[in-house]
Amino acid sequence: MDILKVFPRSSRINEKGNLEIGGVDTVDLVREFGTPLFVYDENHIREQLRRYRNAFLENGIDAIVAYAGKAFLCKYMARIASEEGAYLDCVTGGEIYTALEAGFPAERIFFHGNNKGDEEIEFAIENGVGYFVLDSFDEIERLSSILRKRSLKQDVLVRITPGIVPKTHTYIQTGQVDSKFGFSLASGQAYEAVIEVLNSKNLELKGFHMHIGSQIFSLEPFIAACKVMADFCLSVKERSNYLPSIINLGGGLGVAYRLTDEPPSIEEFISTLSKALKEEFSTRGLSLPVVAIEPGRSIVANAAVTLYKVGTIKDVIGVRLYVSVDGGMSDNLRPMLYGAVYEAFIANKMNRAPETTVTIAGKHCENGDILIRDVKLPFPEIGDIVVVPVTGAYGYAMSNNYNRQPRPAVVFVKEGKATLAIKREKYEDLIRNEIT
Ligand SMILES: Cc1ncc(COP(=O)(O)O)c(C=O)c1O
Repeated sequence: MDILKVFPRSSRINEKGNLEIGGVDTVDLVREFGTPLFVYDENHIREQLRRYRNAFLENGIDAIVAYAGKAFLCKYMARIASEEGAYLDCVTGGEIYTALEAGFPAERIFFHGNNKGDEEIEFAIENGVGYFVLDSFDEIERLSSILRKRSLKQDVLVRITPGIVPKTHTYIQTGQVDSKFGFSLASGQAYEAVIEVLNSKNLELKGFHMHIGSQIFSLEPFIAACKVMADFCLSVKERSNYLPSIINLGGGLGVAYRLTDEPPSIEEFISTLSKALKEEFSTRGLSLPVVAIEPGRSIVANAAVTLYKVGTIKDVIGVRLYVSVDGGMSDNLRPMLYGAVYEAFIANKMNRAPETTVTIAGKHCENGDILIRDVKLPFPEIGDIVVVPVTGAYGYAMSNNYNRQPRPAVVFVKEGKATLAIKREKYEDLIRNEIT
């Protein structure tokens, strides 16, 4: 099996037997930037964005590809998305701020969220954010009132919950009726929301949005979502003579975390989606609006790895060999949060065959702070560099300071060059906001 399958596309094993990404030896990266360290392959990210765009072009669909910033956002990442012509899905004022500071065009931002605060709404409006994705009746009221006071108009989409339950972890299912997101179709609230928006003088309804969940391998739920979207468009047209100019189908395409995972490719995904949309809209006599999607994970997950140093090795004889690294749930919460499973390798022993089964433990004061259970590695030694691939999405984005652990650094590599995008936090950063 090709062990590099889950690694960033530019990865290779060099003559020293070390892992190299973007033409840079990861052992050198550790020497220069320390550990834990996130390493992103810039060209991998650019290529993923282009694959989405080209796939839509090939299927003759007028499309918007919006990168879901929640997966991983910093100024450097926002600049890549901007240069690649992508739109951006933001969920907080903080994500919008980061994007704007990077020079990301505000008009290409979709502002999501089930509880946008007054200050966030004002910040977004003042900065000319392109689209609000409306999520509740309270938000319609709040946004309208803020706009009315300023005599302004805002383009919006209405988020609907389609009642589709894809097979994925319950924490990342979002399309079911019992969800904190969106307006349910089944109850009729989605249609009520559309009417409220159409009746508002300050809101300009541009279309509808749905997102069924994340890390989805089967394309069936997406096909079902296209049908639900087309049904809703037809019903709104028949009842109110309104046709959307944009339909946004959210993100959700799964990625391979393990060597045995076989998710659909971006090309298969978009071709299936395009076919379903064309069919569902044309059979209802509707013209297809601009199609927007919001992939996050499938853009950045496989584009990055995390490098750790082995600190202690403890053999609980007859039970388990614990290999402890200098990070853990503070830089990768996913194993703790929803039992996510990863592969691991030793970056300075990539040519060595696996010799023993180990459990990679984090350094935090929680017994459950285990990054990977039962992974086969060459005999580990103190000082070895453990590399965990596929940490590019919802890794750094969910990082935290548990146990007052400073957050790691993030570098982007490309054509033999490494650029430090986010500095490693220092102890002083941990008390920066403390007053006494
Ligand atoms: C509204 C919305 N759009 C897009 C995404 C991105 O999903 P993914 O990273 O699975 O592509 C999410 C993820 O939770 C989301 O909630």
